[in-house]
Amino acid sequence: MSERTGRKNAAVLVGLDFGADGYGESLEELRLLVESSGLKPLALIQGKRQRPDAALYAGSGKTEEIAAAVREHSASLVVFNHELSPAQQRNLEQKLECPVLDRTGLILGIFAQRARSHEGKLQVELAQLEYASTRLVRGWTHLERQRGGGGFLGGMGETQIEIDRRLIGKRVKLLKDKLVQFKRRRDVQRRARVRGEVLSVSLVGYTNAGKSTLFNLLTRADSYTADQLFATLDTTTRRMYVEEAGNLVLSDTVGFIRDLPHGLVASFRATLEETIHADLLLHVVDASSSVRDAQIAAVNAVLAEIGADAIPQVLVWNKIDLTALMPGLERDEYGKICRVSLSAKTGAGLEILRTALAEVAAAKKSAATNLEMEHCHKDTYVT
Ligand code: GTP
Repeated sequence: MSERTGRKNAAVLVGLDFGADGYGESLEELRLLVESSGLKPLALIQGKRQRPDAALYAGSGKTEEIAAAVREHSASLVVFNHELSPAQQRNLEQKLECPVLDRTGLILGIFAQRARSHEGKLQVELAQLEYASTRLVRGWTHLERQRGGGGFLGGMGETQIEIDRRLIGKRVKLLKDKLVQFKRRRDVQRRARVRGEVLSVSLVGYTNAGKSTLFNLLTRADSYTADQLFATLDTTTRRMYVEEAGNLVLSDTVGFIRDLPHGLVASFRATLEETIHADLLLHVVDASSSVRDAQIAAVNAVLAEIGADAIPQVLVWNKIDLTALMPGLERDEYGKICRVSLSAKTGAGLEILRTALAEVAAAKKSAATNLEMEHCHKDTYVT
């Protein structure tokens, strides 16, 4: 492979159309992901295929086109909007003479940049190592020289060339052990909350839906919000007081995304467990998005994957200030609140959400009282 040095962080994007729904939106999301990672998208190469090419994913003609774009724009890497097998990635890197990132690699890179807490960093490192361990055979030495300077790919490249499989195995075990310790601590805290009969509410939603903005509005905390994907990586939990509902615990969680890499779901399971143990999920939706329904479905798919699909959910249609929607709420056929429309930015509709929380809290209290009464009856019966 010959040397080729491109403009730092300048990327050529590749998105192929296999005839699935939402192709256009997934390209827009790719652009957002790439920008969120600090890379500069210079060109987008598109194409139609029946199925991926076994060796190059894109096929040789398309690969030539990508190579021409890389040369024309002096790009330093190529980002595929798809999952590549280690062999496809290696073949592409040889043909294109530059590093190639797939969707998982891109998301892992963003997570690595964003993790702030100790636990979050461990979780990302675990996911990265598990991803890298399948890709150790590639010719990284050449690419690493090219990458240099700790650009977007810096950390990951180093990990891949410097640690062999055995060391990775050891490190993975160590990380898993540490994460188990974190999990224990979390469990203790959660049990204490359950004993206190505090309503526990988790904000979930597609990345950029506005969870942190809503969290801040509700708790008046200052958790990080930004118009970039995955601004929040660590679960933040705060107590808040809602009149009629009393004290409740609100958690802001990591943003979900279509096809969230499996390694990440597994690594973030401990963090996401906050979600699994919630009494209520506020599923925040960017109501102004043209792919709102697909995003709701993607979030529900991840919730099912982590075993949180049976938890009562209220949809929060956020960003209504960007739409013609008015603040309001909707009930399902059983009279339960199933949707609240609001704007976390302007605060319009916030009172309606508070009412919804109070209603859920009241329902929880009466369910707990019924359960206690049932226990009393049983005790009476036994004695
Ligand atoms: P992740 O951390 O990626 O999961 O994002 P998030 O869901 O926590 O979103 P965040 O609160 O960071 O908001 C994303 C962007 O949407 C920010 O630029 C917010 O200012 C903006 N935003 C949030 N709520 C609203 C809203 O009601 N209206 C408008 N117009 N913008 C909003």
